[in-house]
Amino acid sequence: MKIHVLKIHVFDRAEQAGQAAAALIAAQLLRKPDTVLGLATGSSPIPVYKALIRLYKMGVISFGQAVSYNLDEYVGIDPAHECSYHRFMDEQLFNHVDMRPEAIHVPDGQAADLARTARNYDAAIRAAGGIDLQLLGIGRNGHIGFNEPNDHFVGGCHVVDLTQSTIEANQRFFNSIDDVPRQAVSLGITAITQAKTVLLIASGSDKAQAVHDAIRGEITPQVQASILQAHPDVHFLLDRDAAALL
Ligand code: F6R
Repeated sequence: MKIHVLKIHVFDRAEQAGQAAAALIAAQLLRKPDTVLGLATGSSPIPVYKALIRLYKMGVISFGQAVSYNLDEYVGIDPAHECSYHRFMDEQLFNHVDMRPEAIHVPDGQAADLARTARNYDAAIRAAGGIDLQLLGIGRNGHIGFNEPNDHFVGGCHVVDLTQSTIEANQRFFNSIDDVPRQAVSLGITAITQAKTVLLIASGSDKAQAVHDAIRGEITPQVQASILQAHPDVHFLLDRDAAALL
């Protein structure tokens, strides 16, 4: 496997890492207005979306021709649920910019046939020409999307059993740990790694080990983000705490 040079950017604060990611996304939108964006939820991308909204409101960028595919959604959660990733995206980005509603895609975690939904999601991404720019966070266990530590990489979009560490990490968004869904639909490693450009954003000391293992460790499905070492155009945007073990 060819190993590429990773672009690692370390900033004093998480906000700056977010602004840098937004600058790269803005450049992509200016270069290719009909960009296919792969988007993430969670705490890490919030500063990115804030900065993108500012650039949109300043008239610097438009999402009017862009298309987006989110990485994942919880199984069994209504899109209107306050913890759904659909709702997160609406509140953190889509309600504030000019994305066309029909251009927004988030996996349907409520579908009766989840395997079929997952297959169709991959097919839709392929039909759109693949993802131009994929924004990622990273789990404390090195997951990207909800591709959890495993003995192999799963290529296609699929239903995932969330690990205890992910359930505990995501408890903060729910009333209690019992309310955290146990499963999610997640994009697989193929669509993520076929994205032409990947931006991985991480902040805080609880991500330092995962960031270290992803960048400096061996490529292993036990640390799913380590596969990015084989990607030709990946940027890691980190604050000092997340970069502390590099
Ligand atoms: C979210 C996702 C996850 C998160 C990761 C980090 O769509 O796919 O991989 O990026 O769990 O979450 P935060 O940013 O909340 O620490």
